[in-house]
Amino acid sequence: MNYRNKEWKNSMRLTVDYNYMMKKFIGEEGFKDVDLSEMKEEAADAFDYVADNRGKGMMGWTELPYNQKEIVEDILSTAKEVRRKFKYFVVLGIGGSALGPIAVFNALCHLHYNELAPSKRRGPKFYVEDNVDPERMAALLDIIEPEKTCFNVITKSGATSETMTQYLVINDILTKALGEKAKENIIATTDHAKGNLIKLSRQYGYKTFYIPDGVGGRFSELCPVGLLPAAVLGLDIKAMLAGAAYMDGVCNKPSVAKNPALACAVLQVAAMRRGKNVGVMMPYADSLKLMADWYCQLWAESLGKNVTLDGKPCHAGQTPVKSLGVTDQHSQVQLYTEGPFDKVVTFLSVENYRTVVEIPHGCEDIPDVSFLGGHTMNELIAAENKATAYALAKAGRQNYTIRLPEVNEFTLGELMYLFELQTAYAGAMLNIDTYNQPGVEAGKQATYALLGKKGYEAKRAELDAAPAAEEKYIV
Ligand code: PA5
Repeated sequence: MNYRNKEWKNSMRLTVDYNYMMKKFIGEEGFKDVDLSEMKEEAADAFDYVADNRGKGMMGWTELPYNQKEIVEDILSTAKEVRRKFKYFVVLGIGGSALGPIAVFNALCHLHYNELAPSKRRGPKFYVEDNVDPERMAALLDIIEPEKTCFNVITKSGATSETMTQYLVINDILTKALGEKAKENIIATTDHAKGNLIKLSRQYGYKTFYIPDGVGGRFSELCPVGLLPAAVLGLDIKAMLAGAAYMDGVCNKPSVAKNPALACAVLQVAAMRRGKNVGVMMPYADSLKLMADWYCQLWAESLGKNVTLDGKPCHAGQTPVKSLGVTDQHSQVQLYTEGPFDKVVTFLSVENYRTVVEIPHGCEDIPDVSFLGGHTMNELIAAENKATAYALAKAGRQNYTIRLPEVNEFTLGELMYLFELQTAYAGAMLNIDTYNQPGVEAGKQATYALLGKKGYEAKRAELDAAPAAEEKYIV
């Protein structure tokens, strides 16, 4: 991957094709040119807001492609050591501390990575515990050998019950098996000062990576949260950061015609204002299936807010839905084509898949089957992607396509940075706080109260005083 070469980088540029958002192609539900040009000033203001606040407050994520030189070297040498010493690598974390590592693993590693023979993998077997389902934890423990496993505990706040529960379970097992040496199997990724994990790291002497100030969970994939797991998998994290920096450069213009992230933000916000309350993210590539999950968290948690920055009530946001092409053509696409006009579909299309599968000739006496022979599966998936976009457009449904020349570390860095910028621009246009998550905190606090955490007695009393469920509503 020649990410230092300008020509190569330009050949890897993602593009956004929004023809099928426009009236000219889809009819009444589409935008006229004037609809978008009327938003020119608003878009430029959002661009300025993001440019003016780069690196400040909770916008530390904008600088991650540039300010991690030393950390990257530390990550690479730690990853090398992990690959040498361990058979398994497990991320303990949830939400923004888990979805990025899962998405990158799925996108850039073999789709059956863990089933490959060790000689065919570049790193240890890889798992992410993004839940506290007891069956999931038990299932993990059934297949790994804890003494031969490196556990990367990731939590920005250092306080999340789910992550700390996973940690307690694992630490207990490791300590019983390895005594003081248990610390060698744990790497912490957390805030440098706040929370419990940093205290535990200091107490037990865990190798620790820091989540920089101003980098919230869902914007943290390009810091040690995502870079360490990726490096352990043998992925080129410098190329990921180079891709992000490249997209940052591409988006350095305040105009929708030139800035793809701003274009996506404007299209989505304009659509939201016309009642498109659902944003479908539909990759036509299994490798990007979990990237849609990562995007859904970024978009939902950042924009779903009930108050504007100047304190006015609002109910902002758009419900993101993940879908997979072509699989979901056989389930959800019926709804997208004929159901309510409340959706915008974003396709993620890949020009060059990493392999070509030819469809052999056969069944010559059955023309309905034999026509497939001589083509490739690559041609088929591309045709189905094009056909679905067209069919939606024909039915007056807005959709646009983000096209990746191929899926590699560089283009993935581009894509993630594009989505982060798009979210930041959209948040600015909606005039909400893109970086907080009071709705998530509310659930966390209720959980603390239910499990008897000190300091949450009032919350517990509030929960106990809530009306009890009535039998008549239970069938
Ligand atoms: O984006 C966010 O801030 C959240 O989704 C968090 O990532 C999630 O709640 C986990 O938090 P933490 O990393 O503090 O454990």
